[in-house]
Amino acid sequence: MPTSAEAAVLAALDRVRDPEIMRPITELGMVRGVRVDEEGRATVSILLTIAGCPAARRIEADTLAAAESAPGVSSASVEVGVMSPAERKAFVERVRGDRGARPQQFGPDSLTRVIAVTSGKGGVGKSSLTAGLAVALAQEGLSVGLVDADVFGFSIPGILGLSRDGRTEQPTRLDDMILPPVAHGVKTVSIGMFLGDADPRTTAVSWRGPMLHRTIEQFLRDVWFGDLDVLLLDLPPGTGDIAISVGQLLPHAEVLVVTTPQEAAADVAVRSALVARQTGQRVLGVVENMAGLVQPDGSVVEIFGSGGGRLVADRLSDDEHGVVPLLGSVPLSPAFREGGDRGEPAVLSAPDDPAAAEVIRVARTIAAQGRSLAGRSLGIAPR
Ligand SMILES: Nc1ncnc2c1ncn2[C@@H]1O[C@H](COP(=O)(O)OP(=O)(O)O)[C@@H](O)[C@H]1O
Ligand SMILES: [Mg+2]
Repeated sequence: MPTSAEAAVLAALDRVRDPEIMRPITELGMVRGVRVDEEGRATVSILLTIAGCPAARRIEADTLAAAESAPGVSSASVEVGVMSPAERKAFVERVRGDRGARPQQFGPDSLTRVIAVTSGKGGVGKSSLTAGLAVALAQEGLSVGLVDADVFGFSIPGILGLSRDGRTEQPTRLDDMILPPVAHGVKTVSIGMFLGDADPRTTAVSWRGPMLHRTIEQFLRDVWFGDLDVLLLDLPPGTGDIAISVGQLLPHAEVLVVTTPQEAAADVAVRSALVARQTGQRVLGVVENMAGLVQPDGSVVEIFGSGGGRLVADRLSDDEHGVVPLLGSVPLSPAFREGGDRGEPAVLSAPDDPAAAEVIRVARTIAAQGRSLAGRSLGIAPR
Protein backbone atom coordinates (compact mmCIF):
# COMPACT_ATOMS: atom_id res chain seq x y z
CA MET A 1 0.00 0.00 0.00
CA PRO A 2 1.44 3.37 -0.91
CA THR A 3 1.48 5.92 1.91
CA SER A 4 -0.53 9.07 1.39
CA ALA A 5 2.64 10.96 0.45
CA GLU A 6 3.51 8.27 -2.11
CA ALA A 7 0.02 8.44 -3.56
CA ALA A 8 0.42 12.21 -3.80
CA VAL A 9 3.70 11.80 -5.70
CA LEU A 10 2.10 9.31 -8.06
CA ALA A 11 -0.77 11.72 -8.70
CA ALA A 12 1.74 14.50 -9.38
CA LEU A 13 3.57 12.23 -11.83
CA ASP A 14 0.37 11.98 -13.89
CA ARG A 15 1.22 15.49 -15.03
CA VAL A 16 4.65 14.50 -16.38
CA ARG A 17 4.44 13.74 -20.06
CA ASP A 18 6.89 12.01 -22.30
CA PRO A 19 7.67 14.91 -24.65
CA GLU A 20 7.77 12.68 -27.70
CA ILE A 21 4.67 10.64 -27.01
CA MET A 22 2.80 13.38 -25.18
CA ARG A 23 1.23 10.99 -22.72
CA PRO A 24 1.77 10.78 -18.95
CA ILE A 25 4.74 8.67 -17.90
CA THR A 26 2.52 6.91 -15.38
CA GLU A 27 0.27 5.70 -18.17
CA LEU A 28 3.25 4.61 -20.28
CA GLY A 29 4.70 2.31 -17.62
CA MET A 30 7.76 4.51 -17.19
CA VAL A 31 7.46 4.80 -13.41
CA ARG A 32 9.07 1.80 -11.72
CA GLY A 33 8.53 2.90 -8.15
CA VAL A 34 7.93 5.71 -5.69
CA ARG A 35 9.18 5.76 -2.08
CA VAL A 36 8.70 8.47 0.51
CA ASP A 37 10.42 7.99 3.89
CA GLU A 38 9.26 9.33 7.27
CA GLU A 39 11.28 12.50 6.72
CA GLY A 40 9.32 13.22 3.55
CA ARG A 41 12.25 12.40 1.25
CA ALA A 42 10.90 11.04 -2.03
CA THR A 43 12.75 8.75 -4.41
CA VAL A 44 11.20 8.14 -7.80
CA SER A 45 12.55 5.44 -10.14
CA ILE A 46 11.77 6.00 -13.77
CA LEU A 47 12.51 3.87 -16.81
CA LEU A 48 13.59 5.32 -20.11
CA THR A 49 13.06 3.47 -23.35
CA ILE A 50 16.68 3.66 -24.42
CA ALA A 51 19.86 4.92 -22.85
CA GLY A 52 20.57 8.53 -23.74
CA CYS A 53 17.12 9.07 -25.22
CA PRO A 54 16.90 12.73 -26.31
CA ALA A 55 14.01 13.42 -23.99
CA ALA A 56 15.77 11.95 -20.96
CA ARG A 57 16.87 15.16 -19.31
CA ARG A 58 13.50 16.77 -19.73
CA ILE A 59 11.64 13.76 -18.30
CA GLU A 60 14.05 13.59 -15.37
CA ALA A 61 13.71 17.31 -14.61
CA ASP A 62 9.90 17.25 -14.93
CA THR A 63 9.72 14.17 -12.71
CA LEU A 64 11.84 15.84 -10.05
CA ALA A 65 9.75 19.00 -10.14
CA ALA A 66 6.49 17.03 -9.93
CA ALA A 67 7.73 14.93 -6.99
CA GLU A 68 8.95 18.02 -5.12
CA SER A 69 5.58 19.69 -5.59
CA ALA A 70 3.63 16.81 -4.01
CA PRO A 71 2.15 17.48 -0.56
CA GLY A 72 4.07 15.72 2.20
CA VAL A 73 7.35 15.74 0.28
CA SER A 74 10.30 17.67 1.70
CA SER A 75 12.89 16.78 -0.93
CA ALA A 76 13.05 14.47 -3.93
CA SER A 77 15.49 12.58 -6.08
CA VAL A 78 15.08 10.64 -9.30
CA GLU A 79 16.71 7.35 -10.25
CA VAL A 80 16.90 6.75 -13.97
CA GLY A 81 17.00 3.27 -15.42
CA VAL A 82 16.61 1.79 -18.88
CA MET A 83 13.91 -0.62 -19.98
CA SER A 84 14.79 -4.22 -20.71
CA PRO A 85 14.02 -5.42 -24.25
CA ALA A 86 10.84 -7.06 -22.95
CA GLU A 87 9.75 -3.89 -21.17
CA ARG A 88 10.44 -1.88 -24.29
CA LYS A 89 8.39 -4.25 -26.40
CA ALA A 90 5.48 -3.84 -24.00
CA PHE A 91 5.99 -0.08 -24.12
CA VAL A 92 5.85 -0.01 -27.92
CA GLU A 93 2.68 -2.08 -27.87
CA ARG A 94 1.11 0.19 -25.27
CA VAL A 95 1.90 3.27 -27.32
CA ARG A 96 0.95 1.90 -30.66
CA GLY A 97 -2.11 0.00 -29.54
CA ASP A 98 -3.78 -2.10 -32.19
CA ARG A 99 -2.50 0.22 -34.84
CA GLY A 100 0.72 -1.72 -35.01
CA ALA A 101 -0.72 -4.11 -37.50
CA ARG A 102 -2.04 -1.42 -39.82
CA PRO A 103 -0.05 -0.56 -42.89
CA GLN A 104 -0.59 3.19 -42.72
CA GLN A 105 -1.78 5.59 -40.04
CA PHE A 106 -3.63 7.98 -42.30
CA GLY A 107 -5.67 5.65 -44.46
CA PRO A 108 -9.25 6.26 -45.53
CA ASP A 109 -10.72 5.53 -42.10
CA SER A 110 -8.43 7.82 -40.17
CA LEU A 111 -10.02 10.91 -38.66
CA THR A 112 -6.85 12.95 -39.12
CA ARG A 113 -7.12 15.82 -41.54
CA VAL A 114 -4.23 15.64 -43.96
CA ILE A 115 -3.24 18.92 -45.56
CA ALA A 116 -0.57 18.92 -48.25
CA VAL A 117 0.95 22.32 -48.84
CA THR A 118 2.02 22.89 -52.40
CA SER A 119 3.27 25.70 -54.57
CA GLY A 120 4.23 25.97 -58.17
CA LYS A 121 7.70 27.27 -57.62
CA GLY A 122 10.22 27.36 -54.82
CA GLY A 123 11.01 30.32 -52.67
CA VAL A 124 7.43 31.50 -52.21
CA GLY A 125 7.52 30.79 -48.47
CA LYS A 126 5.76 27.43 -48.57
CA SER A 127 7.92 25.92 -45.82
CA SER A 128 7.75 29.04 -43.65
CA LEU A 129 3.95 29.07 -43.92
CA THR A 130 3.62 25.32 -43.35
CA ALA A 131 5.75 25.51 -40.20
CA GLY A 132 3.91 28.64 -39.02
CA LEU A 133 0.50 27.07 -39.60
CA ALA A 134 1.56 23.88 -37.81
CA VAL A 135 2.75 25.77 -34.73
CA ALA A 136 -0.32 28.03 -34.76
CA LEU A 137 -2.66 25.01 -35.03
CA ALA A 138 -0.86 23.39 -32.08
CA GLN A 139 -1.37 26.66 -30.17
CA GLU A 140 -5.09 26.30 -30.89
CA GLY A 141 -4.94 23.05 -28.95
CA LEU A 142 -4.89 20.68 -31.89
CA SER A 143 -2.61 17.68 -32.06
CA VAL A 144 -0.41 18.40 -35.06
CA GLY A 145 2.13 16.47 -37.11
CA LEU A 146 4.34 17.80 -39.87
CA VAL A 147 6.08 15.83 -42.60
CA ASP A 148 8.82 17.66 -44.48
CA ALA A 149 8.65 15.89 -47.81
CA ASP A 150 10.75 18.40 -49.69
CA VAL A 151 13.67 16.10 -50.43
CA PHE A 152 15.87 18.53 -52.24
CA GLY A 153 15.03 21.59 -50.25
CA PHE A 154 14.12 20.34 -46.79
CA SER A 155 14.14 23.29 -44.44
CA ILE A 156 11.55 22.54 -41.76
CA PRO A 157 14.05 21.39 -39.08
CA GLY A 158 15.83 24.73 -39.38
CA ILE A 159 12.65 26.81 -39.26
CA LEU A 160 11.37 24.93 -36.21
CA GLY A 161 14.66 25.05 -34.34
CA LEU A 162 15.39 21.32 -34.65
CA SER A 163 18.59 21.96 -36.56
CA ARG A 164 21.53 23.92 -35.24
CA ASP A 165 25.13 24.17 -36.41
CA GLY A 166 24.60 21.51 -39.03
CA ARG A 167 23.19 18.99 -36.54
CA THR A 168 19.56 17.99 -36.88
CA GLU A 169 17.69 16.49 -33.98
CA GLN A 170 17.16 12.80 -34.61
CA PRO A 171 13.98 10.79 -34.17
CA THR A 172 14.09 8.15 -31.44
CA ARG A 173 13.98 4.62 -32.78
CA LEU A 174 12.25 1.97 -30.69
CA ASP A 175 12.55 -1.28 -32.56
CA ASP A 176 10.60 -0.60 -35.76
CA MET A 177 8.80 2.46 -34.39
CA ILE A 178 10.20 5.93 -35.03
CA LEU A 179 9.25 8.71 -32.61
CA PRO A 180 9.42 12.13 -34.21
CA PRO A 181 10.98 15.05 -32.33
CA VAL A 182 8.44 17.60 -31.10
CA ALA A 183 9.11 21.23 -31.97
CA HIS A 184 6.89 23.92 -30.44
CA GLY A 185 4.19 21.29 -29.95
CA VAL A 186 4.47 19.85 -33.47
CA LYS A 187 5.56 16.26 -34.12
CA THR A 188 8.01 16.76 -36.92
CA VAL A 189 9.73 14.43 -39.32
CA SER A 190 11.98 15.48 -42.17
CA ILE A 191 14.07 13.88 -44.84
CA GLY A 192 16.85 15.92 -43.24
CA MET A 193 16.67 13.66 -40.19
CA PHE A 194 17.56 10.56 -42.17
CA LEU A 195 20.90 11.54 -43.55
CA GLY A 196 22.90 9.93 -40.77
CA ASP A 197 25.93 12.00 -39.83
CA ALA A 198 25.98 13.94 -43.07
CA ASP A 199 25.88 17.71 -42.63
CA PRO A 200 22.57 18.82 -44.17
CA ARG A 201 24.17 22.11 -45.20
CA THR A 202 26.45 20.31 -47.60
CA THR A 203 24.53 17.14 -48.36
CA ALA A 204 22.45 16.80 -51.48
CA VAL A 205 19.77 14.15 -51.64
CA SER A 206 19.47 12.89 -55.18
CA TRP A 207 16.85 10.22 -55.12
CA ARG A 208 14.71 8.97 -57.93
CA GLY A 209 10.96 8.71 -57.78
CA PRO A 210 10.63 5.19 -56.33
CA MET A 211 13.03 5.99 -53.50
CA LEU A 212 11.06 9.14 -52.70
CA HIS A 213 7.82 7.18 -52.76
CA ARG A 214 9.22 4.58 -50.37
CA THR A 215 10.49 7.26 -48.03
CA ILE A 216 7.14 9.03 -47.81
CA GLU A 217 5.47 5.65 -47.37
CA GLN A 218 7.86 4.88 -44.52
CA PHE A 219 7.17 8.24 -42.90
CA LEU A 220 3.46 7.51 -42.94
CA ARG A 221 3.85 3.94 -41.72
CA ASP A 222 6.78 3.77 -39.29
CA VAL A 223 6.83 7.23 -37.78
CA TRP A 224 4.50 7.11 -34.81
CA PHE A 225 2.35 10.24 -34.73
CA GLY A 226 -0.37 9.07 -32.38
CA ASP A 227 -3.88 10.46 -32.77
CA LEU A 228 -3.42 13.62 -34.78
CA ASP A 229 -6.06 16.19 -35.55
CA VAL A 230 -4.04 17.52 -38.45
CA LEU A 231 -1.07 16.25 -40.44
CA LEU A 232 0.62 18.86 -42.62
CA LEU A 233 2.95 17.96 -45.45
CA ASP A 234 5.50 20.35 -46.88
CA LEU A 235 5.72 19.18 -50.47
CA PRO A 236 8.53 20.00 -52.86
CA PRO A 237 7.62 22.76 -55.29
CA GLY A 238 6.13 21.80 -58.60
CA THR A 239 4.17 18.86 -59.85
CA GLY A 240 6.72 16.12 -59.43
CA ASP A 241 6.91 12.59 -58.18
CA ILE A 242 6.16 13.36 -54.56
CA ALA A 243 2.92 15.15 -55.31
CA ILE A 244 1.78 12.07 -57.21
CA SER A 245 2.97 9.75 -54.42
CA VAL A 246 1.05 11.77 -51.89
CA GLY A 247 -2.00 11.53 -54.10
CA GLN A 248 -1.66 7.75 -54.16
CA LEU A 249 -0.75 7.27 -50.51
CA LEU A 250 -3.15 9.87 -49.11
CA PRO A 251 -6.07 10.22 -51.50
CA HIS A 252 -8.04 12.04 -48.80
CA ALA A 253 -5.44 14.75 -48.43
CA GLU A 254 -6.58 18.31 -48.94
CA VAL A 255 -4.28 20.69 -50.75
CA LEU A 256 -3.33 24.16 -49.63
CA VAL A 257 -1.82 26.22 -52.42
CA VAL A 258 0.79 28.88 -51.65
CA THR A 259 1.58 31.58 -54.14
CA THR A 260 3.03 35.07 -54.25
CA PRO A 261 1.08 38.08 -55.53
CA GLN A 262 2.99 37.80 -58.81
CA GLU A 263 1.15 36.60 -61.89
CA ALA A 264 3.99 34.33 -63.04
CA ALA A 265 3.91 32.50 -59.69
CA ALA A 266 0.14 32.23 -59.92
CA ASP A 267 0.30 30.33 -63.22
CA VAL A 268 2.53 27.57 -61.84
CA ALA A 269 0.60 27.46 -58.57
CA VAL A 270 -2.58 26.69 -60.50
CA ARG A 271 -0.81 23.89 -62.35
CA SER A 272 0.41 22.28 -59.12
CA ALA A 273 -3.15 22.35 -57.75
CA LEU A 274 -4.50 20.78 -60.93
CA VAL A 275 -2.08 17.86 -60.59
CA ALA A 276 -3.27 17.34 -57.03
CA ARG A 277 -6.86 17.37 -58.27
CA GLN A 278 -6.05 14.76 -60.89
CA THR A 279 -4.95 12.43 -58.09
CA GLY A 280 -8.27 12.97 -56.34
CA GLN A 281 -7.31 15.55 -53.76
CA ARG A 282 -9.51 18.49 -52.85
CA VAL A 283 -8.14 22.01 -52.92
CA LEU A 284 -8.77 23.46 -49.49
CA GLY A 285 -7.79 27.00 -50.36
CA VAL A 286 -5.08 29.41 -51.37
CA VAL A 287 -2.73 31.46 -49.23
CA GLU A 288 -0.89 34.38 -50.75
CA ASN A 289 2.53 35.08 -49.27
CA MET A 290 4.99 37.97 -49.66
CA ALA A 291 2.24 40.50 -50.14
CA GLY A 292 2.85 44.23 -49.64
CA LEU A 293 5.43 45.25 -47.06
CA VAL A 294 4.03 47.77 -44.60
CA GLN A 295 6.44 50.70 -44.10
CA PRO A 296 6.93 52.47 -40.78
CA ASP A 297 4.93 55.41 -42.20
CA GLY A 298 2.02 53.11 -42.99
CA SER A 299 2.53 53.06 -46.75
CA VAL A 300 2.76 49.70 -48.47
CA VAL A 301 5.42 48.56 -50.94
CA GLU A 302 4.17 45.80 -53.20
CA ILE A 303 7.46 44.20 -54.11
CA PHE A 304 5.83 41.23 -55.85
CA GLY A 305 2.83 43.14 -57.15
CA SER A 306 -0.65 42.18 -56.02
CA GLY A 307 -3.59 39.98 -56.82
CA GLY A 308 -1.84 36.61 -57.36
CA GLY A 309 -3.66 34.84 -54.54
CA ARG A 310 -7.08 36.02 -55.72
CA LEU A 311 -6.19 35.01 -59.27
CA VAL A 312 -5.25 31.45 -58.25
CA ALA A 313 -8.36 31.05 -56.09
CA ASP A 314 -10.62 32.27 -58.89
CA ARG A 315 -9.00 30.06 -61.51
CA LEU A 316 -9.42 27.00 -59.29
CA SER A 317 -13.06 27.76 -58.55
CA ASP A 318 -15.58 26.29 -60.97
CA ASP A 319 -18.96 24.58 -61.09
CA GLU A 320 -17.49 21.15 -60.60
CA HIS A 321 -15.25 21.99 -57.62
CA GLY A 322 -17.09 24.88 -56.05
CA VAL A 323 -15.51 28.00 -54.63
CA VAL A 324 -11.85 27.71 -53.64
CA PRO A 325 -11.32 30.38 -50.98
CA LEU A 326 -8.40 32.76 -50.63
CA LEU A 327 -7.71 31.99 -46.97
CA GLY A 328 -5.28 34.82 -46.35
CA SER A 329 -2.67 37.18 -47.65
CA VAL A 330 0.54 37.19 -45.63
CA PRO A 331 2.65 40.33 -46.01
CA LEU A 332 6.42 40.44 -46.35
CA SER A 333 7.88 40.90 -42.92
CA PRO A 334 11.45 41.01 -41.63
CA ALA A 335 10.38 39.64 -38.23
CA PHE A 336 8.68 36.68 -39.89
CA ARG A 337 11.84 35.81 -41.80
CA GLU A 338 14.07 36.28 -38.77
CA GLY A 339 11.88 33.97 -36.67
CA GLY A 340 12.36 31.22 -39.26
CA ASP A 341 16.10 31.83 -39.46
CA ARG A 342 16.40 31.58 -35.68
CA GLY A 343 14.24 28.49 -35.36
CA GLU A 344 11.67 30.42 -33.32
CA PRO A 345 8.61 30.85 -35.52
CA ALA A 346 7.17 34.35 -35.41
CA VAL A 347 3.68 32.98 -34.65
CA LEU A 348 5.13 32.29 -31.18
CA SER A 349 7.93 34.84 -30.78
CA ALA A 350 6.18 37.79 -32.47
CA PRO A 351 2.45 36.99 -32.74
CA ASP A 352 1.58 40.65 -33.35
CA ASP A 353 3.81 40.90 -36.39
CA PRO A 354 1.46 41.42 -39.37
CA ALA A 355 2.68 38.29 -41.18
CA ALA A 356 2.52 36.13 -38.05
CA ALA A 357 -0.94 37.47 -37.18
CA GLU A 358 -2.22 36.59 -40.65
CA VAL A 359 -0.79 33.05 -40.42
CA ILE A 360 -2.53 32.66 -37.04
CA ARG A 361 -5.77 33.88 -38.60
CA VAL A 362 -5.49 31.33 -41.43
CA ALA A 363 -4.74 28.59 -38.89
CA ARG A 364 -7.90 29.50 -36.95
CA THR A 365 -9.96 29.38 -40.12
CA ILE A 366 -8.58 25.93 -40.90
CA ALA A 367 -9.09 24.73 -37.31
CA ALA A 368 -12.69 25.97 -37.35
CA GLN A 369 -13.46 23.85 -40.41
CA GLY A 370 -12.89 20.70 -38.37
CA ARG A 371 -12.46 17.31 -39.85
CA SER A 372 -13.68 16.87 -43.35
CA LEU A 373 -15.72 13.75 -43.90
CA ALA A 374 -16.12 14.37 -47.60
CA GLY A 375 -15.64 11.23 -49.62
CA ARG A 376 -14.86 9.24 -46.52
CA SER A 377 -16.22 5.87 -45.52
CA LEU A 378 -18.31 6.35 -42.40
CA GLY A 379 -18.18 2.66 -41.56
CA ILE A 380 -21.95 2.30 -41.69
CA ALA A 381 -23.37 -0.70 -43.48
CA PRO A 382 -26.93 -0.76 -44.91
CA ARG A 383 -29.23 -3.22 -43.20
N1 LIG B 1 6.16 36.69 -45.47
C1 LIG B 1 7.49 36.68 -45.53
N2 LIG B 1 8.23 37.78 -45.25
C2 LIG B 1 9.58 37.77 -45.30
N3 LIG B 1 10.30 36.71 -45.65
C3 LIG B 1 9.65 35.57 -45.95
C4 LIG B 1 8.22 35.49 -45.91
N4 LIG B 1 7.87 34.22 -46.23
C5 LIG B 1 9.02 33.56 -46.46
N5 LIG B 1 10.09 34.36 -46.30
C6 LIG B 1 11.50 34.02 -46.49
O1 LIG B 1 11.65 33.66 -47.86
C7 LIG B 1 12.57 32.58 -47.99
C8 LIG B 1 11.92 31.42 -48.71
O2 LIG B 1 10.92 30.89 -47.87
P1 LIG B 1 10.65 29.33 -47.77
O3 LIG B 1 9.61 29.15 -46.75
O4 LIG B 1 11.91 28.59 -47.61
O5 LIG B 1 10.06 29.09 -49.22
P2 LIG B 1 9.76 27.73 -50.01
O6 LIG B 1 9.55 26.64 -49.03
O7 LIG B 1 8.55 28.05 -50.82
O8 LIG B 1 10.94 27.49 -50.89
C9 LIG B 1 13.03 32.25 -46.60
O9 LIG B 1 14.26 32.89 -46.36
C10 LIG B 1 11.95 32.83 -45.70
O10 LIG B 1 12.45 33.23 -44.44
MG1 LIG C 1 10.69 24.91 -48.75
